[in-house]
Amino acid sequence: MVSLSKSISRVEPSPTQAAAARARALAEQGKDIISFTVGEPDFDTPAHVKAAAIEALEKGLTKYTAANGILPLREAICAKLRRDQDLEYSPAEIIVTNGGKHALATACAVLLNPGDEAIVPAPYWTSYPDMARIASGEAVIVQTTAEQGYLMSPEALANACSSRTKLIFLNTPSNPTGACYSREQLRALAEVINRLPNRDEIVVLSDEVYEYITYDGFQHVSFLSVAPELRANSMLINAFSKTYSMTGWRVGYAAGPKHIIDAMTTHVSQFTSNVTSIAQYAAAKAYEDHGAFPRLMLKEFTKRRDLVLEAAEQMPGVSIVPPKGSFFAFFNVAELLGKSVDGRLISQARDFAEYLLEDYDVVVVQGEAFGDPQSVRISFALATDRLKVGLARMIEATKRLAG
Ligand SMILES: Cc1ncc(COP(=O)(O)O)c(C=O)c1O
Repeated sequence: MVSLSKSISRVEPSPTQAAAARARALAEQGKDIISFTVGEPDFDTPAHVKAAAIEALEKGLTKYTAANGILPLREAICAKLRRDQDLEYSPAEIIVTNGGKHALATACAVLLNPGDEAIVPAPYWTSYPDMARIASGEAVIVQTTAEQGYLMSPEALANACSSRTKLIFLNTPSNPTGACYSREQLRALAEVINRLPNRDEIVVLSDEVYEYITYDGFQHVSFLSVAPELRANSMLINAFSKTYSMTGWRVGYAAGPKHIIDAMTTHVSQFTSNVTSIAQYAAAKAYEDHGAFPRLMLKEFTKRRDLVLEAAEQMPGVSIVPPKGSFFAFFNVAELLGKSVDGRLISQARDFAEYLLEDYDVVVVQGEAFGDPQSVRISFALATDRLKVGLARMIEATKRLAG
C-alpha cells in the first residue's frame, strides 16, 4: 500500500463527526437513537438569509468570487464587528472561509513552522490540536479543571509558553464546556502575553463562533476588545454556522492583520478558490437582523439548558459546571468510573459512552475527544421532546451504574 504523508499520519479523524455518523447509521437501521452529538442548531436557516441566496441564484451570481470573499460580505462583517464589539477592521483585513474550521486551519497553515508550539487549553474543541499538527506544529495542552470553571488561568498560560510558542487558541463561549471568559479574565491573559519575550511573534486565535449563544445575561466579550494593544497579534475567528443555523452553508471568516489575511488568501486561492458564491451572498444579509434570529434560538436553548441542568441533578455520579454559553453541556462522570455493569468495567469516559449506546440507544461524545477522559459531552441542540427522552435514559443509566 502506498504510504501517506507524515502530516496526515499525525492526525485522527474528527471524533465528533465519527460519533454523529455512528448515530446516523444506527438510526437508519431503525433504532430509536437519541443523538446528543450534533454540533448544530436544529433550527432552519432564517428566511432573510434563504431569500438572499435565492436572489443571488436568480441573478446568476454563480461564478468564482475573489478568494478572500465578496466585498459586500466583508463589508457586512466589518459593520458587525464595529456594531457588536467596537472593533475597526477594513474589508482588506477580512477573509471569508469555508466555515470557522477552515479559517482556523488556514491560519495554522500560514503561521506554523515545524516545531512551533500552539497552546491549546483543555477541554478543547476536538480539532485544535490536530489542526496545529497537520500544519507541522506541536500542540501544547493546558489542562483546566471543573473547579476553575474550565478556564485557563494566567499562571497556567505563563507556564505553558516557551520560546517556541507561536499560537494561542482561545475559545469563548467554549465547545465542549460552555465556559466563557469575562473581560477581566481575558485582560489577565493579555497581560501574560504582553510580558512574553517573544510576544511579537505570537498570534492569539480567538474562536468566537458561539458568541450570541450565552445565558443568564452573560455578555460575550471578544479578546480583541479587551486587548487592543495585541491587534497585530490576534485573529478573530467567527462563522455563520452556529449563530445563524447555517452549518451546511459553510461560511466563516477571520479578521486580523493584513499580511496574515493576505497569506491566508494565497492559501485559499491555491486550495479551494473561494466559498460557494450564493452562500456568500446569503451570509452578507445575515447580520442585517441585528441578532434577532440568534436571540430567538437563544430562548429555546435556554429552556433546554435548564432541562439539562435539572436532569443532571438526578444523575448520581455526574457533576456539571453550568454552561454560560454554547449549546453543550460537559458531564463529569469521574465518580462512575471504575464501576461495573453486567460484568463490563466502565473505566473511562469512552466505556461510559459505549454503555449508553449499547444499553440505552443514547449517543454522547466521549471526553477523550476533548482532552478529558473523565467526561462526556452532550449537545442540547435537538428537539425538546427528544432531549427529554434522552435525559431520562441517562438518568436511568447512571442510577443503574451507580448501584
Ligand atoms: C469551537 C468551534 N469552532 C469552530 C467550529 C467550526 O464551525 P464551522 O462549522 O463554521 O466550520 C466549531 C464547530 O463545531 C466549533 O465548535
